[in-house]
Order: sequence, then C-alpha cells, then structure tokens
Amino acid sequence: MDRILVTGGTGYIGSHTVVELQQAGYEVVIIDNLSNSNRDVVDGIERITGVRPAFVEGDCTDIGTLRKLFADYPGIKGIINFAASKAVGESVHKPILYYRNNLNTLLNLLDLMEPNGVKGIVFSSSCTVYGEPDENPVTEESPIKKATSPYGNTKQISEEIITDVINSGARFKSVILRYFNPVGAHPSAEIGELPNGVPQNLIPYLTQTAIGIRKELSVFGDDYNTPDGSCIRDYINVVDLAKAHVAAVERMLQDKSEDKIEIFNLGTGNGVSVLQLINVFESATGVKVPHKIVGRRDGDIEKVWADPERANKVLGWKATSSLEDTMRSAWNWQLKLRERGVM
Ligand code: NAD
Ligand code: UFG
Repeated sequence: MDRILVTGGTGYIGSHTVVELQQAGYEVVIIDNLSNSNRDVVDGIERITGVRPAFVEGDCTDIGTLRKLFADYPGIKGIINFAASKAVGESVHKPILYYRNNLNTLLNLLDLMEPNGVKGIVFSSSCTVYGEPDENPVTEESPIKKATSPYGNTKQISEEIITDVINSGARFKSVILRYFNPVGAHPSAEIGELPNGVPQNLIPYLTQTAIGIRKELSVFGDDYNTPDGSCIRDYINVVDLAKAHVAAVERMLQDKSEDKIEIFNLGTGNGVSVLQLINVFESATGVKVPHKIVGRRDGDIEKVWADPERANKVLGWKATSSLEDTMRSAWNWQLKLRERGVM
C-alpha cells in the first residue's frame, strides 16, 4: 500500500481525490492549514471510504512542519499538491499572500522530495494559463498567455519552477494537471464544495440561490461573441477530476511516464454557456434559479474549453459523468448542508 501525501486534502478537489486514492488502495496522509476548509471533511471522507486518512493540521509554507511530517510518516512515495490560495479576485488585492503561499508551498515540497525518496509530484494547475485562447478547444500546446491575475501567474510560475527543477536532474517526476472548471460533489453528498462567505464561483452561487440563501444569480454578461451571449466554460465533474489524479499517481509510481514532466488538460471537451448551465440545472433538479443578466465581470474569459485527447489516450482517463448528474450532485450537497444546519 503506497503512502501518498495530499496537501490541501481537506479542500474541495483534495477531499474528493483522497476518497478515490483510498478506494484505489493507497494510504493517504493529508496536510492542510484549514485556511479554506474544515476538519469535519476528514469525517466525511471516513464515512464514504470506511478509512480515516491521517490528518496533519499544518502550513506547507513552514518547512519545519513538513520535515516533521516526513519524519512522522516515513516512506511517502508520491505527493499531490493542492494546497494553494485560489481566489482570482482576491489575488489582485493581496498579491504577496498569493505568491508567498502558492510558491513557498511548492518550493518546500520540491526541496524535501529527494531527501525523503519521493518518486513524483502531481501539481494542480489551471486552464487560466491559456488566458483568452485564440482557438478552442485548447490543447496542451496552445500558447500560454500573460496571466491576468497574480493567482494565474502563480500557476504559470509554478509550472516553470517544476520544469527547471526536473531539468536540473532531480530524481523524481511530475505530472502537471490543468483543470478546467471543476463542479459538483460526491454522489454520497458527504463531501462537496463549501466556500467561505459569498461564493465567487458560478455553481455554489447558483445552488445557494436555488435554495433561497441568495436572492438572485447574476449572469455576468450576455453580449459575448457566443451563441447565447453568455461565457462558455468546460465544466468537469469533481469525482471524474479526482480519478485523473489516481491515474497520474499510478503513472509516476509505476514508471509509466514517457517524460519526467507530463502535462494534461482535464476537461470534458464540451463548451457550455452560463445560460445553458442554468437550464441544465433546472431541468435536472426541477428547481428554478432566479437570475438576471448584469454587466460583464472584470477579467472574465469569453470562451474556453479543453481538448482532453492526451489525457484520454495517454493517461487512460476520461470524464464520464453527465452534466445532469453533476448538477444533481451539486444540489444534493446543498440540501445536505441545510439538513446539517451548516447553511
Ligand atoms: P480549496 O481552497 O478548496 O482547497 C485548497 C486547500 O488547501 C484548502 O483546504 C486550504 O485550507 C489548503 N491550504 C491553502 N494553503 C495552504 C498551506 N499553505 N498549507 C496547508 N494547506 C493549505 O481549493 P480547490 O478548489 O480544492 O483547489 C485545489 C487546487 O486546485 C488549488 O491549487 C487550486 O488553485 C487548483 N485549481 C482549482 C480550480 C477550481 O476551480 N476549484 C481550478 C483550477 C485549479
Ligand atoms: N458567473 C456568473 N455569475 C456568477 C459567477 C460566475 O455569471 O455569480 C460566470 C462567470 O462570468 C463565468 C462562469 O460563470 O463565465 C464561470 O465562472 P467561475 O467564477 O465559476 O469560474 P471561472 O471560469 O471564472 O474560474 C474558475 C476558477 C479559477 C480557475 C478557472 C480555470 O475560479 O480559479 O476556473 O480553472 F483558474
């Protein structure tokens, strides 16, 4: 049973990935500073899998904490690094926090890999690295555009840091995963997305509106150059996304990687507009979402969706969930939060 360190493992994507890793037979150690998640998530993971992952409350920017973790949990074979600050808008106002948190976390992990015999690191990157693409769908070879936010820049710089470290002769591998728009929740409704405060992302705002916590969903713009005028994204089910991490870890640990650094787009290949997504949610759940069109949001990209062919062929992974099921899972999670009195 290989031991995997999951940083940010109580967060949204991290928690779903811990479940999939455990179900695939891995032993997981989580480190999270709980800056954007809650320790109850560990209970949710245990309820799904029947196995309680080891949990260390700690900050990855503190190398001493990480050194102690490697000493306490020897034999870690792989790392998945989710830990990062991720709010695009906030990063514009707090750039130092973003550069410090996201880059120091990565540097500390890379620094400790060789001395601890870790064979590979999976890194959470983002389709933000493509900026506003000239052509869709985007492949991994599509041009990297100048980042529009400090957050996006941390992802570009992180990819460069990993490349430089591996090219310097490091004795480990890396898989860089560029996520498109992760949505939905575990079908058990035991874990899901729980943003602090007013949600910035579409789906949590939509489900909170549908349940009556928010009055109305604002659709940011209907004057884009798209069929219905609203922006287009590639919405990927979070459990499908989590499964890609298991495939990436297996590839690194079983020496199947073709290169020491591999990059994969993780998306469905389907572009869906904001207005289409509202319709899918309403027809899948039978629940209406009060919404109105407002002006464009600063910094939004008009349209982006993935060409996931490389991940399909090379990683042997494919997104399989329907958008209807994914919307139902997001709704069931919102209902569960109300039942538990969380919100
Ligand atoms: P999340 O905020 O739910 O999870 C991140 C977790 O990391 C949180 O639990 C937080 O408490 C923890 N954390 C942050 N800084 C830490 C530190 N210094 N030490 C220890 N723990 C720390 O976010 P998520 O949506 O699960 O995203 C996971 C990763 O995927 C992030 O790197 C994010 O940038 C990336 N990503 C997310 C999206 C998305 O839309 N959700 C898209 C592309 C990429
Ligand atoms: N939107 C609305 N109303 C809202 C919220 C969002 O109309 O209340 C629209 C946005 O304008 C956009 C779409 O819904 O067209 C999706 O917006 P999100 O904020 O959910 O997601 P983004 O595509 O802007 O960005 C997300 C993450 C980033 C990540 C990026 C790419 O927030 O961290 O996906 O992976 F980098």
